[in-house]
Amino acid sequence: MAKPTILIMAAGHGTRMRSTLPKVLHPVCGRPMIQWVIEAARRAGAGRIICVTRPGEGVAERLPDGVEAAEQTSGEGTGSAVLAARDGITPDTTVVVLSGDHPLISSALIASLVDRHEREHAAATLLTTDKIDPAGYGRIVRAADDSVERIVETKHPETVPEDELRIREVNVGTYAFSAAELFGALDSVSETGGERYLTGVFPLIVQRGGRLVAAMTEDVLSSLGVNTRADLMEVGRHLNRQLIEQHAVNGVSFASPDTTTLEADVEIGRDTVIGPGVTIHAGTRIGEGCEIGPHTTLVGARLGDGVWVAHSYLVDCDVENGARIGPFAYLRPGTVIREGAKIGTFVEVKNSDIGRGTKVPHLSYLGDADVGEETNIGASNVTANYDGRKKHRTKIGKRVKTSVDTTFVAPVSVGDDAYTGAGSVITDDVPDGALGIARARQENIEGYAQRKEQEASDEQPGD
Ligand code: UD1
Ligand code: MG
Repeated sequence: MAKPTILIMAAGHGTRMRSTLPKVLHPVCGRPMIQWVIEAARRAGAGRIICVTRPGEGVAERLPDGVEAAEQTSGEGTGSAVLAARDGITPDTTVVVLSGDHPLISSALIASLVDRHEREHAAATLLTTDKIDPAGYGRIVRAADDSVERIVETKHPETVPEDELRIREVNVGTYAFSAAELFGALDSVSETGGERYLTGVFPLIVQRGGRLVAAMTEDVLSSLGVNTRADLMEVGRHLNRQLIEQHAVNGVSFASPDTTTLEADVEIGRDTVIGPGVTIHAGTRIGEGCEIGPHTTLVGARLGDGVWVAHSYLVDCDVENGARIGPFAYLRPGTVIREGAKIGTFVEVKNSDIGRGTKVPHLSYLGDADVGEETNIGASNVTANYDGRKKHRTKIGKRVKTSVDTTFVAPVSVGDDAYTGAGSVITDDVPDGALGIARARQENIEGYAQRKEQEASDEQPGD
């Protein structure tokens, strides 16, 4: 058999989301909802993948290569969506129709649907389930002989008779059709409340003598559709758990999986332990044997092996093997922390290279700095890297010991093995091995307190 054409309906208004962002672009674990559906369609062995989109919504523009867009310019409802993709589909094609709002749809389920449809020479095959809360879904009304008679929509339950609302078997919204039967019937589906429902085709296909197969599935996750923010949270929760379990299978420990937030496109090496309250965003890579958390956020961070990070926020930076970060550190884009270096408490580092074994233990800001290896940066050191117009670099050599409260007014450099004095504002380069000290000399005024007291007693009361 030729590979099926898979249509993904993604042009609904998503009004129940109450959002300016189109529903299918809402992220689920770091990817737009529709991308999950596209990937399932690909893995299921699609020939063509066509997404039905609405002009001006920005969905067509975000489709990956190889996925076609068909614009739904007229008509409302899932039936109109499918009609929008009709051009260029030959009558003998198997057409799979998926809903763009089912991000957990599994490729195996799609593949088995196609298989069943083709094996049974059906005109249409639809998936149903009785394993989810049926509220809001189309209910399957079966005839006395158990065949599917029609589907009742329950988006507006007040308009649906009680006995039909009690039906627990719902339409999953995933179908396989023979193209000829689908489009032949769809032309004749009349509008309900201004919408042409795709589900209206089934009684017509049966009337026209077509074979309708209703396949029950136990696959709860594939069946979950997103119409509201509550649904979005629900699918996000399931997918987050799935991602965690995949990493766990690969040898990663999660101390508190219920408080871990994981996005797709993350790599974690074995024997790494993820602590409570950790959020790991797409594009992050973590090596082996790391300890991450508690309460740490990694946004596109790249960590080597044996890295320790606690209570910190790391964005688009590199942390090499054995480095220690936090608690309470903020690493910003362009930062490289070399092997075995330590970034401690209340330290912010931006666009800087911190050398091997170097320590920045407390209360410092290093921006646009290059620090050599085995250097110790004292508490509260700050690079004054911005003159109001441009950023300038600070260079600090190897084995340097800067004392507390040193300010580096960039551009400036400090040579290897050099020192700075506490409270220094370094504006000029410090040569190798020198002590740079730049502060007013201390003066002690002897007898000051006694003199003050004398002055006070000399002032006569009432004067
Ligand atoms: C639909 C089914 C319902 C099924 C449920 C499963 C219909 C009439 N009802 O209801 O039987 O139980 O899915 O989740 O099909 N769309 C368009 N163009 C439109 C309208 C919708 O492309 O004009 C797209 C949406 O973006 C969405 C999908 O079609 O991805 C389904 O639309 P939605 O409005 O969510 O239908 P449901 O009420 O969930
Ligand atoms: Mg829906």
